[in-house]
Amino acid sequence: MSPSAPVCVISTISVALVFLLGLSDAQLSATYYSTTCPNATAIVQSVIQQAFQTDVRITASLTRLFFHDCFVDGCDGSLLLDDSATIQSEKGAAPNANSARGFDVVDNIKSALESACPGVVSCADILAIASAVSVNMSGGPSWMVLLGRRDSLTANISGANTAIPTPFDNLGNLTAKFSAMGLSPTDLVALSGAHTFGRAQCRTFSPRLYNFTTNGGPDPTLAPSFLTSLQQLCPVNGNGSVVTNLDLTTPNTFDNAYYTNLQNNQGLLLSDQELLSTNGASTAALVNSFASNQSAFFTSFSQSMINMGNIRPLTGTNGEIRTNCRKVNGS
Ligand code: HEM
Ligand SMILES: *[C@@H]1O[C@H](CO)[C@@H](O)[C@H](O)[C@H]1NC(C)=O
Ligand SMILES: *[C@@H]1O[C@H](CO)[C@@H](O)[C@H](O)[C@H]1NC(C)=O
Ligand SMILES: *[C@@H]1O[C@H](CO)[C@@H](O)[C@H](O)[C@H]1NC(C)=O
Ligand SMILES: *[C@@H]1O[C@H](CO)[C@@H](O)[C@H](O)[C@H]1NC(C)=O
Ligand SMILES: *[C@@H]1O[C@H](CO)[C@@H](O)[C@H](O)[C@H]1NC(C)=O
Ligand SMILES: *[C@@H]1O[C@H](CO)[C@@H](O)[C@H](O)[C@H]1NC(C)=O
Ligand SMILES: *[C@@H]1O[C@H](CO)[C@@H](O)[C@H](O)[C@H]1NC(C)=O
Repeated sequence: MSPSAPVCVISTISVALVFLLGLSDAQLSATYYSTTCPNATAIVQSVIQQAFQTDVRITASLTRLFFHDCFVDGCDGSLLLDDSATIQSEKGAAPNANSARGFDVVDNIKSALESACPGVVSCADILAIASAVSVNMSGGPSWMVLLGRRDSLTANISGANTAIPTPFDNLGNLTAKFSAMGLSPTDLVALSGAHTFGRAQCRTFSPRLYNFTTNGGPDPTLAPSFLTSLQQLCPVNGNGSVVTNLDLTTPNTFDNAYYTNLQNNQGLLLSDQELLSTNGASTAALVNSFASNQSAFFTSFSQSMINMGNIRPLTGTNGEIRTNCRKVNGS
């Protein structure tokens, strides 16, 4: 037997391995946990159902966490890390501070999964599953959730401050920020439909209510009766943390009322109304189509959640599976 034969076999195997790892890097899979944690989705669902009994808003809050995670260095659980000696938490960034919520429920999901399948399900995947379960629980569509993401070893607070859109962004700013994530204007319009549930604080829309135009008036795109009620809720120099429903029509139901609200000039955030009211907006036709056809919205929303979930996941040997979503392992 030739002494070089085993080396040959090993190098062939390594080449095959590198090739396979390269391939698996590129894609997530709906069956990723089917042998290692087959009950993962049911466990996530059961914890969220429990929280939902006393907090109907929790499904909205968890859906938002997935968005805020994915837009910062990809869907890698970076949002969930707390401050530590080496981590400056994304929770302190402007879009998240005193606003992002649901972290305690994520902890409960993680504990339940660690009991059932220790060290298997990543925190990044918990957010992907939790957002799908949440949308379903509030009456929205269901889709095949792709899994296999791993968790980051770092956070990026400056990324959270710059990459996540603000409610004051115009349509150009919004499309630019989505495009930077590889997401299209269709993804922007469909995913903004998540504002069909959940709440927003006065400080996120109060600039529209007073001194918005050069002659001191409110945002002219706001319907007069809606403006009056928002001014009562959020007076000048009032409490900026008071909350109201993002969707005034069906506040807790995942449906297409967000888009009919826009048609009635009742979008809450400037960034919402921009999708329809910007002069010559290319997004207006899609808003109108989702307003008139809920199943068209549900189909697009499902696809766009998959697209958002594909933003730069860590796979293979990158990152880790955290045991506590708030901390890097061993820290
Ligand atoms: C298009 C750009 C977006 C902007 C500018 C934006 C901005 C905001 C703001 C300002 C709030 C209120 C936060 C507060 O007052 O505490 C909010 C809430 C929310 N956002 Fe967005 N958002 C955007 C896109 C998205 C996307 C893509 C999703 C998910 C797919 C999403 C899901 C939510 C949900 C569900 C809430 C309510 C959360 C709760 O009640 O806890 N948003 N968003
Ligand atoms: C899966 O998890 C759910 C929720 O915790 C539980 O009710 C059910 O018994 C579990 N099923 C199996 C097969 O472990
Ligand atoms: C939620 O998912 C369950 C199955 O997992 C399905 O039976 C139910 O119809 C879904 N709900 C909605 C509103 O799609
Ligand atoms: C942090 O996020 C910003 C904005 O997305 C990005 O440009 C930067 O490369 C990120 N930094 C690190 C260290 O990942
Ligand atoms: C938003 O767009 C305006 C132009 O319409 C531009 O001046 C501004 O710098 C943009 N802001 C961001 C954060 O991209
Ligand atoms: C409205 O804005 C203008 C220009 O930005 C400023 O001069 C004026 O003091 C503001 N008025 C109020 C009531 O805030
Ligand atoms: C402002 O409103 C929030 C939410 O309703 C409340 O928790 C907080 O105590 C209020 N702050 C003040 C100073 O009234
Ligand atoms: C609504 O959208 C669905 C899904 O895109 C499509 O199959 C259906 O034909 C549309 N219905 C109408 C009335 O346009």
